Amino acid sequence: MMIKNICCIGAGYVGGPTMAVIAQKCPHIKVTVVDLNEKRISAWNDKDVNNIPIYEPGLSNVVAEARGRNLFFSTEVDKAIDEADMIFISVNTPTKTYGVGKGMAADLKYIELCARQIARVSKTDKIVVEKSTLPVRTAQAIKDILEHTGNGVNFQILSNPEFLAEGTAIEDLFAPDRVLIGGDVTLEGQKAIQALVDIYANWVPKDRILTTNVWSSELSKLTANAFLAQRVSSINALSELCEKTGADVNEVARAIGMDSRIGSKFLKSSVGFGGSCFQKDILNLVYIAKSYGLNEVADYWEQVIIMNDHQKRRFAKNIIKTLYNTVSGKKIAFLGWAFKKDTNDTRESAAIYVADDLLSEQATIAVFDPKVEEDQIQFDLNYLETRSEEANNKGVQVASSAYDACKNAHAIAVLTEWDEFKTYDWQKIYDNMLKPAFVFDGRNILDKQALEKIGFVYQGIGSR
Ligand code: NAD
Ligand code: UDX
Repeated sequence: MMIKNICCIGAGYVGGPTMAVIAQKCPHIKVTVVDLNEKRISAWNDKDVNNIPIYEPGLSNVVAEARGRNLFFSTEVDKAIDEADMIFISVNTPTKTYGVGKGMAADLKYIELCARQIARVSKTDKIVVEKSTLPVRTAQAIKDILEHTGNGVNFQILSNPEFLAEGTAIEDLFAPDRVLIGGDVTLEGQKAIQALVDIYANWVPKDRILTTNVWSSELSKLTANAFLAQRVSSINALSELCEKTGADVNEVARAIGMDSRIGSKFLKSSVGFGGSCFQKDILNLVYIAKSYGLNEVADYWEQVIIMNDHQKRRFAKNIIKTLYNTVSGKKIAFLGWAFKKDTNDTRESAAIYVADDLLSEQATIAVFDPKVEEDQIQFDLNYLETRSEEANNKGVQVASSAYDACKNAHAIAVLTEWDEFKTYDWQKIYDNMLKPAFVFDGRNILDKQALEKIGFVYQGIGSR
């Protein structure tokens, strides 16, 4: 089966970049990305390709090449579904904030809405692809809805989880470690799998395209994120022991990472992992394990989150303790707000939680992030509902440069590992700060010796 027309529901951090790359690599396929969010769609269609809603290195070039040729962004969801042979569902699947499974389970209401809409609109056979990260066995629920509310057309459901990381999405999509496609073992299922394999084969080597049954594919995505996050929590757990013993976590990470059985990636100790995926997906895994009565399995993975929460809190506590046990009325400059460098995404960023703790101690915070806008920062804090919006507004200023943020500050906290932070004129920053001038480097990116030479009191993570 040759796919000619793709629709993707959800124009977010996954739907936008993945579809832009499919369109660029497959000029013979028409790709329409739809979303209910009109503002987001009009930003994707902005004449100036630098105004697309997601900052991701290399993305605007890909969009510039394909948009208007075979890549389209639209709010006409029904029309795009109707025309498509293959529909990707790439909507958000956040942690539930209500009812059974609140704070743990994935909220599948957007997925179900998509399934019902696809069933209602489709007049021809379709392949429906789960691109969103979903609990294992969701494909069964989608299948039930499609089969019971549809117009008698045939649907095949595939699981094709996305492994891109933000900040390197285009690199990851151009040269993925693997593409995973799960489908039914029936002949029809295998044909659907092949149709999707054929799309990726336009640029991905065949031996990197892995096919499995649907359940393995769904569960592999949660597992991959759990393993990655576990590595970060493992090294972060050791960072605290390093601080007590005089070992240096960077040296420990290097020493263990050279063991090829362990590997060197994802061993960077930090103020704690953030992002929209790790916490959500582990909580989801924990919830699924509990729902099958597998309490030891659930507790094992939950510890990854407990450790991460501890790491964020410990960072804030250390700032307070070091600043003579009070930050009340003190100005703390935050370098970075995004959950990692090279993205404007702030979801679950450690910066939010550290700021929240410091605000509760009556600090004032001045934030500079090269890509995050002021509204987003206020939104993130207000979302926690710890204090009134006025109080958040009063407590947090957003600076237009790092130098402004650090002016007259008592301390600097590095929350994101943006490269530009390393190249600043640190002497100039020091001269404009209150003394003693403290730096808390939550990413271990600055040059400790150089900073100490200038006169800073420097503290990284996981070393003395
Ligand atoms: P996102 O919130 O950026 O985008 C989702 C979009 O879907 C939103 O724009 C929303 O308006 C739209 N939407 C929701 N319901 C809709 C509906 N019924 N019709 C039309 N549009 C609708 O989310 P994201 O970060 O792109 O994540 C999407 C999925 O991909 C999630 O399941 C996530 O776990 C998974 N994922 C994310 C990443 C990542 O790095 N962000 C990586 C891999 C997988
Ligand atoms: C993650 C997965 O890597 C990706 O495969 C999946 O598709 C989505 O979730 P993402 O959250 O975008 O991607 O970024 P990632 O690079 O994994 O970083 C997540 C968080 O962990 C960031 O806050 C990052 O700073 C932190 N991290 C990562 C560390 O603190 N130390 C590390 O060594 C690696």
